[in-house]
Amino acid sequence: MLIRRPPSIPPSELTPPALYKRRKFLRAALAAPLALAAPAIAPAKAQAAATPDYAPNPAFTMEARGYGTFTPKEKMAGYNNFYELGTDKRDPAANSHFYRARPWRVAVSGEVAEPLDLDVDDLLKLAPLEERVYRLRCVEAWSMVIPWMGFSLSALVKKAQPTGKAKFVEFITFNPDELFPENSNSSLPWPYVEGLRMDEAMHPLAMLVFGVYGELLPTQCGAPVRLVAPWKYGFKSGKALVAIRFLEKQPATTWNVLQPGEYGFYANVNPNVSHPRWSQASERAIGGGFLPERRKTDMFNGYAEEVAGLYSGMDLQKQF
Ligand code: MTE
Repeated sequence: MLIRRPPSIPPSELTPPALYKRRKFLRAALAAPLALAAPAIAPAKAQAAATPDYAPNPAFTMEARGYGTFTPKEKMAGYNNFYELGTDKRDPAANSHFYRARPWRVAVSGEVAEPLDLDVDDLLKLAPLEERVYRLRCVEAWSMVIPWMGFSLSALVKKAQPTGKAKFVEFITFNPDELFPENSNSSLPWPYVEGLRMDEAMHPLAMLVFGVYGELLPTQCGAPVRLVAPWKYGFKSGKALVAIRFLEKQPATTWNVLQPGEYGFYANVNPNVSHPRWSQASERAIGGGFLPERRKTDMFNGYAEEVAGLYSGMDLQKQF
């Protein structure tokens, strides 16, 4: 039996990436150029689907939100957390050929009247695609400003018709041990799992994302479909989803299970609640040049007006 060792270190850039490395993964990285040559997993094929039509949502443009500049696309697509593809920030882009994002199915099950099993290209037709510029704030105290393409998760929730018992939604990523066993690494117990409370999942800001910068998601950004909940730390945004389950009980989520004192289930961006090893009061803008801008972190990542009501009566120091 393979016993997984939980990492003693969180996904922090404060930690030398070498500490994360697993020998198996390094072997996989060395094999990557060979894998690139295999037509079955060529990246061009993975992104063969045409870019669908979409329209900017006027409430979430750069101007409407008062953001300065986008994070340059190449920075966003070259600095990722996606441990299935490796633990260094550059690994997900370098290993993006490990899986093909199409064809791809997403199953919706659990406490629902209508379980679904959808091809991702049918899923993306469920509601009109919008572009929304959101700030993504990572628990590692960096942030990006990104134009996402997708629609509110609530469109899918409504289609599935949750029963009265559904109190939480669980998001499950593919299992790399099954999808690319030759290249899988054991940095986390797979699959990567995240979750939201039902009212969070129904909040219009919570977005099912299929594209970025006007194109379908690059693999390293979570192709073909990921979650983005912009008022929460980035680790809530599960990438490359294969299953969405409606549950009565709070799901066991990856980082919360591994290090509950560091990664709360709620993970709401909160400058007043420090990570045990660093402050969350400010953040570094990725792609901000040689001396990147350091900005003060906003409560709920700047979305307090929209989401604060979801947490009234909760002690956010304890339920972080
Ligand atoms: N989803 C999966 N499947 N695997 C991961 O390792 N990392 C999370 C989240 N979603 C992760 C994931 C973390 S820690 C962050 S900060 C964001 O993805 C990063 O998203 P980005 O690379 O698009 O910035």
